[in-house]
Amino acid sequence: MQDEWTAVDRYLTDLLVPADAALDEALEASAAAGLPPHHVSPNQGKLLGLLAGAVGARRILEIGTLGGYSTIWLARALPAGGRLVTLEANSDHADVALANLERAGLANVVELRVGPALETLPTLGAEGCDPFDLSFIDADKASSAEYFDWALRLSRPGSLILIDNVVRRGAVADPTTDDPSALGIRRLNQRMADEPRVSATAIQTVGSKGHDGFALALVGGRS
Ligand code: SAH
Ligand code: DHB
Ligand code: MG
Repeated sequence: MQDEWTAVDRYLTDLLVPADAALDEALEASAAAGLPPHHVSPNQGKLLGLLAGAVGARRILEIGTLGGYSTIWLARALPAGGRLVTLEANSDHADVALANLERAGLANVVELRVGPALETLPTLGAEGCDPFDLSFIDADKASSAEYFDWALRLSRPGSLILIDNVVRRGAVADPTTDDPSALGIRRLNQRMADEPRVSATAIQTVGSKGHDGFALALVGGRS
């Protein structure tokens, strides 16, 4: 099955997601530096950019930068004067991301904050910045529910919150799972279900990254 999923992703990507020097170089540099291949796929990256453009995002928050691949997709969707803040715990990853963002011409658009997100988010909140129009949660899955709480707190009605990796090869649907990532995602999903300030859904996907999925919560949306 995986071979077919990968072949279809290749077909769709070849057709709809043209090769791009900065994005391709970001993946090459990330692999060369030994980063894990946990970036979104090209067609997922384009979806992130399209969603950011569709909601007219001027301020974007990303939690989990890795080599900055998804960051580039999101930052490119910003209008002139737009800003993206991305949070990364691992300073080696952050160094690779900064070089990739520089090469993509986005160094002045993106602010990368290094440190565990549960430490950098309170700082960000205390600064009293304008709300984020779109948040993309893609760091350690065990803390996704806490990241969702922060993203909601830093949002406004109409903001979009996207969360990657909410299916984990189906582990999320196993109520007896003891996998910390799956448990974290189950807590996140319960939180979105219980939270009256958002309307949320989640979609499972197959593709070059296997069987996974993403969730989307609209702040102030009607359930
Ligand atoms: N969004 C990226 C992929 C992120 S992979 C892309 O699609 O291109 C997940 C990243 O989250 C890794 O770089 C990892 O170091 C980072 N991470 C893990 N725990 C974290 C934490 N507590 N705070 C911030 N980042 C964290
Ligand atoms: C993995 C995939 C991701 O998209 C991510 O953010 C973290 C880990 C993985 O395949 O393990
Ligand atoms: Mg991910």
